[in-house]
Amino acid sequence: MQRQPQLVAIATAVIVALALVLISLATAGTRRLTSAPGRGILSVQMPQPTITSPQLPLDVDVPAGFQGNPIAFFDDFSWRSFIALVWPVEDGQRGVPDTARQLAGPGPRVFETLKATWEIFHADGSAPSPWSEYEKQTYNPCADQLKFGQLSLASFSKFSHIGQAFFGSLTGPIASQNGRYVLYLTGMNKAEFDLIDGRKWYIRANLPASVTFPNGSVSVKSAWIEMDGIANPDRYYRRKAFVLDLQQQRCEEKEVGLVGLHIVQKTPSRPQWIWSSFEHVDNCPPASPGASGSFAFHNGIAAQAMPKSSPFQLDPPVAPPVTPFNIVRVNPIHPSTTQTNSLYRSELAKVNSVWKNYQLVMTQWPTPPAGTPPQGPVPADQDGQPDHTFPGTGGATAFANTTLETFEQEHVDTGCMACHDDTRVQTDFVWTLQDHAFEPNIPALLFRPSFLKLQNRLKKTHELNVPKKIAPSLLKAKP
Ligand code: HEC
Repeated sequence: MQRQPQLVAIATAVIVALALVLISLATAGTRRLTSAPGRGILSVQMPQPTITSPQLPLDVDVPAGFQGNPIAFFDDFSWRSFIALVWPVEDGQRGVPDTARQLAGPGPRVFETLKATWEIFHADGSAPSPWSEYEKQTYNPCADQLKFGQLSLASFSKFSHIGQAFFGSLTGPIASQNGRYVLYLTGMNKAEFDLIDGRKWYIRANLPASVTFPNGSVSVKSAWIEMDGIANPDRYYRRKAFVLDLQQQRCEEKEVGLVGLHIVQKTPSRPQWIWSSFEHVDNCPPASPGASGSFAFHNGIAAQAMPKSSPFQLDPPVAPPVTPFNIVRVNPIHPSTTQTNSLYRSELAKVNSVWKNYQLVMTQWPTPPAGTPPQGPVPADQDGQPDHTFPGTGGATAFANTTLETFEQEHVDTGCMACHDDTRVQTDFVWTLQDHAFEPNIPALLFRPSFLKLQNRLKKTHELNVPKKIAPSLLKAKP
């Protein structure tokens, strides 16, 4: 009789151990199984890191028969997309990789030559220039006519390139340790641009009730810092860009460094797009165990906590330098993603490429309905809410980019797909089209059902007064 509790304890321990083994098989540990082929599920070939292909993958490739969490395949898809988009671009060919060059080669990168928001959506609603051309001087908020590969990190409104993404609108900026605001740029690939251009969707009145982008559509959103005074500049991908000096109210060509990159791609198996987000590894420390080292967004002293929202006003923005605040990564990166990162980063280190200093923070993807294979496809009418996506509602791993959604790191129902889901029906998850089509009518968002839905959700999770966050001049914002 007395032995019974002992037996129960042993049985429990065995069950827990088995569960742990199963969990690790289903996620990070699966990669190791490639060394044990020929044993059913164990023989599934796990993705191998490759940094030599300048081509975007067309879809995620989860092998037939694979069961469990396909995170390693989605993260591999993200990394391949990243490699293709940071590949040197072919001279004069926007969005086309130069296959004669290697990844570590010099020159502007593919993603930098996609069509920028300011090029597509003109303040007067006029048509954008053809894909291969850069917009005429009148429509460039910063420089004169850009030459191929030049970059302009500015906006006509003087603040919409520094506002952090919010629920269908923008909120206060963040600053790097040198007291300069982070600069954002959105680019669309040719598939997306051609549809918007062809249907004249840059004019709001031409938007149908429901927009559908073709498979292969890619949007990127990049985050940049001005490099003066930043520690270890050699660790960043750096280049020159036109930057608006808010004090002088004129543009200057300055050295900037990449700190964040969102990539979203619509694929045949995932009509809700696949959502990938990369960061520089020196951005900030994890919330726990805290700081050590030098970071672009943290002073290295743990004592100063991260604020709940940006202390900086968006409109009009105070001219920098401002006093920066500390930013931390609230949730840790998923262990399987960390493992994929180290595989890719060590390949990149072998060719001494600066991209070895970047990491995938998270891939978010739509999960197929219960009872259907993890390979997909996912029905086109499925929404992007957390219970239909990975990492799901219970996830305690990272789902936001610390440089792009700094203050949306806590609740997955304010994560990428949940926030973008609110414009799913109208503009196929793409907020830029919703926000910037002429005439930009951001205030109307306050009254749209999609915005009200978000506002309620946000109130529940944040206790924030959303309308107060909308900058007064966004009411007459120009793109
Ligand atoms: C709180 C809401 C919110 C969250 C969370 C959010 N975004 Fe966005 N995102 C926006 C808004 C709003 C815009 C448009 C900004 C503008 O109009 O300048 C945008 C723009 C983008 C763009 C440019 C293409 C587009 O949709 O127009 C990409 C790419 C993007 N986000 C990816 C992501 C990824 C990846 C994540 C998660 C890591 C994410 N977003 C999380 C609100 C959000």
